[in-house]
Amino acid sequence: MKEKITAVVLAAGSGRRMNSAVPKQYLLLDGRPVLYYTLRAFEESAVTDIVLVIGADEIEYCRQEFVEKYRLSKIVAVVAGGRERYHSVYEGLKAAAGSDYVLIHDGARPFVTADVIARSIEAVKVCGACVAGMPVKDTIKVVDADGLVKETPARSTLWQIQTPQSFSCPLITRAYKEMIASCNTSSVTDDAMVLEQMTGQRVRVIEGDYRNIKITTPEDLLVAEAYLKDVEKK
Ligand code: C5P
Repeated sequence: MKEKITAVVLAAGSGRRMNSAVPKQYLLLDGRPVLYYTLRAFEESAVTDIVLVIGADEIEYCRQEFVEKYRLSKIVAVVAGGRERYHSVYEGLKAAAGSDYVLIHDGARPFVTADVIARSIEAVKVCGACVAGMPVKDTIKVVDADGLVKETPARSTLWQIQTPQSFSCPLITRAYKEMIASCNTSSVTDDAMVLEQMTGQRVRVIEGDYRNIKITTPEDLLVAEAYLKDVEKK
């Protein structure tokens, strides 16, 4: 039987850091919402299904604006997210139940490439848990509450982690369930962490793409516009 590979695309954030009334995933890039580009990348990939997680008030708007207008046929569910990103992931995982693998992806990363998605699918089938990442370019320092440097980890060991973060669906669902039941949620910043902490399973880092940025602050939009122009030239 064909494997079910579901992309869980997260777009339920409020975009506080963007200083905009419009959440970042709906800001326009060349006349189309950021989220459109993200969804199109998965629609055109080998994933079999897409679950879209959005704000509770936006379900009907998203059905019309994305599923119907752009004829995104792989979207099988549009569900409401929650207050924190991990709540939204958990809602997405519930809607993806029965999948073999899930690729959890930030809706605010519209430049995820076909290659990164393909590498994620290939690797998750082998190792059960992988995340896209790139070596850091800057020196990273650990700084204490007084603003003093505590340590400078060797740069060669540091990677900046992106999404997709891809997992065996039963494995990550169990880890999320346990994490939420334990109420030990304060330090969660990505999905791999949940798996590492709740199950001890090792997570492989696969090659992402420096352009796979998360549109978070207004200056990211300027960069995004430049990237989009470059993609269109090709
Ligand atoms: O806020 P952050 O930059 O971590 O958001 C990453 C992605 O997670 C964004 O695409 C955002 O829409 C989504 N998110 C969500 N639910 C939340 C917070 C963030 O779906 N409660």
